[in-house]
Order: sequence, then C-alpha cells, then structure tokens
Amino acid sequence: MSLHYSSMKTEILQSLDLSKAIGALKNGEPVIFPTETVYGLGAIIFDEEAVKKIFTIKGRPQDNPLIAHISSLEDAKRIGEGLNDLFYKLADAFWPGPLSIIVKKKPEVPALVSAGHPTIAIRMPSHKVARSLIEGVGAPLVAPSANISGKPSPTCLSDSLEDLDGKVRYAIDGGSCEVGIESTVISLVSESPILLRPGSVTKEALEKVLGKKVDNPPQSGPILSPGMKYRHYAPKAKVRICFKKEELKGPFFIPRAKTLYAMLRDADRQNVQEIQIYCDDEAQKDAALMNRLLRASGQIH
Ligand code: TXA
Ligand code: MG
Repeated sequence: MSLHYSSMKTEILQSLDLSKAIGALKNGEPVIFPTETVYGLGAIIFDEEAVKKIFTIKGRPQDNPLIAHISSLEDAKRIGEGLNDLFYKLADAFWPGPLSIIVKKKPEVPALVSAGHPTIAIRMPSHKVARSLIEGVGAPLVAPSANISGKPSPTCLSDSLEDLDGKVRYAIDGGSCEVGIESTVISLVSESPILLRPGSVTKEALEKVLGKKVDNPPQSGPILSPGMKYRHYAPKAKVRICFKKEELKGPFFIPRAKTLYAMLRDADRQNVQEIQIYCDDEAQKDAALMNRLLRASGQIH
C-alpha cells in the first residue's frame, strides 16, 4: 500500500461539487474537508483500511481514538449505545456545533477507531460542507485534524496542505474555519460528566444545559483522553506567554481562538525563534484558548 502519490499533488476541490470527494471516500481514500473548528482528514467509520490510512498519513499514535462526525441523530444511533437523557440534552442544545460527546460504542465500530476503548466520540459539525459530505457518503466519517500529529491544527486549507500535500488525493476548500480551535470533548460514560478537552462550548454552558456539575479529568489513574497526553498544538518556535504588559520585550501577539493556530504556523514559516504572546483580559477569560496556549508553550502536557 503506497500512501505517497509522489508525482502528484493533492487535487483541490471547490465545495460546490462534492461528487469526487464522496466517490473517493466510498473507495477507501481519505479526504481533507473543512469543519467550523479546524480542517479534518476523513474516512468512513466502518472502513478499517481507510481508517488505518488516516493514522499512517498523520503519523498518529494508534492509541489515540478518533471522533466520528455525523449529519443526523440517526447516524448517532448507528454507532452509539444506550444514548441517554444527558446525551439528548447536549445534542439538542449544541448540535450541530463544536461539541464531541463520548458514549459507549456499538460493536459495528471498528476497535481501531476508538483505539480499543469501549467508547466513541461523536460530533455533528455545523459546517455545511462537512454535513453534506457525510450525508452524501451515507455514513459517519471519522476525522482527526488534518495535520501531521503534534503540529498546530490547520484552520485553512493551505495550512493543512503544508503538512499533507501529496499524501491525500483530494482536499475540499472551505475557506477559513470560524471557530479555529478543536471541539469541546465531554464524556458521558462515567458516573458524572467529565470535560476531557475544553473548547468554545464552555464548561459553564454544558453545566447549565445538563443541570449538573461537569468534572475535570482526574489527575491520577488511567488516562481518559489519550490525545491530551501528547505535546499538541506545538510550533517549532518557543512560545513565551505574558500576562502583564510590563513583561513584554519587543513585538508581541494578542491571541484569539480563531487565529491562534494560523499565527503559530506563520511564525514557524518565518523561522521565528520565539513568539511572544500577550494575554489580555479577553484572552484570559477564554479557557479553551488558554489551554491550547499553555500546551503550545509546553507549560502543560
Ligand atoms: O474539532 C474537532 O474535534 C476536530 C474536527 C476535525 O472535527 N477534530 C479533532 O480530532 O480535533 P483529533 O483527532 O485531533 O482530536 C480528538 C480528541 C483527542 O484528544 C482524543 O484523544 C479524544 O478526542 N477522543 C476521541 N475519542 C475518544 C474516546 N473514545 N475517549 C476519550 N477521548 C477520545
Ligand atoms: Mg488533532
């Protein structure tokens, strides 16, 4: 199996005609597509060979499970087991949108998808192209962010192709992503809900809809969200974070979720040694943004 179409560049498809992309996915070829959070590298959830390709293309560790993207609640029922009241409350309030909900998986979902866990993360994206693609294929698509593992997630197609050009046959251009950081991940499989990855759907918003407390992941014991243990969102440049204007030396950047990853990639393209970031009040209030920043700077893992 060759994944490198070395003599070939990835063909960029405009989002109005999805037929080539749908055909490729049905043929077991992963496709890059836009979502409202970041670009994804998709494959049909039931196609094990295609799912394997995703791990190879990204250089993704096999113990890191994938998110299933759906276009209807019927899709959720095909892959999730015992969908309860809490699940429907969240789906009703936040879907389509940047929230991934972890539930028990159906046996039909290949173990590779969930990295051997008995669970599956499900999200219904709000991006029209993503939903039309899933609908056109007629099955949920698993899709990690469309970057090489460990690099900042791509929020425009050119950032994705910087990593994956020639390794994927087709990529759909949907412009810049609205949200700019990955979905919130919440698990409903333990006694009380656990926030595994902060995102633009906040913990407070989740608690309000659920009518109960949402926990942070336990500090010890088994790792619940394998993806969070790897150094993520990391540029080559050193990231220096300042909270006080007095600490700034020279040029700095005020971070916002929508532009953070593009800025980190841009700095790397310019071979900047150190990126100085000034977190103003607005940035400090954004828990998801601060989470990614602290990871990019290596202060949390
Ligand atoms: O916004 C997003 O979620 C984007 C777009 C493409 O939809 N996708 C994305 O996928 O960020 P990825 O693979 O880069 O991140 C998936 C995260 C990882 O931290 C992974 O460990 C966690 O979700 N995850 C997925 N399934 C899980 C499961 N069954 N149990 C625990 N964590 C899970
Ligand atoms: Mg990722």
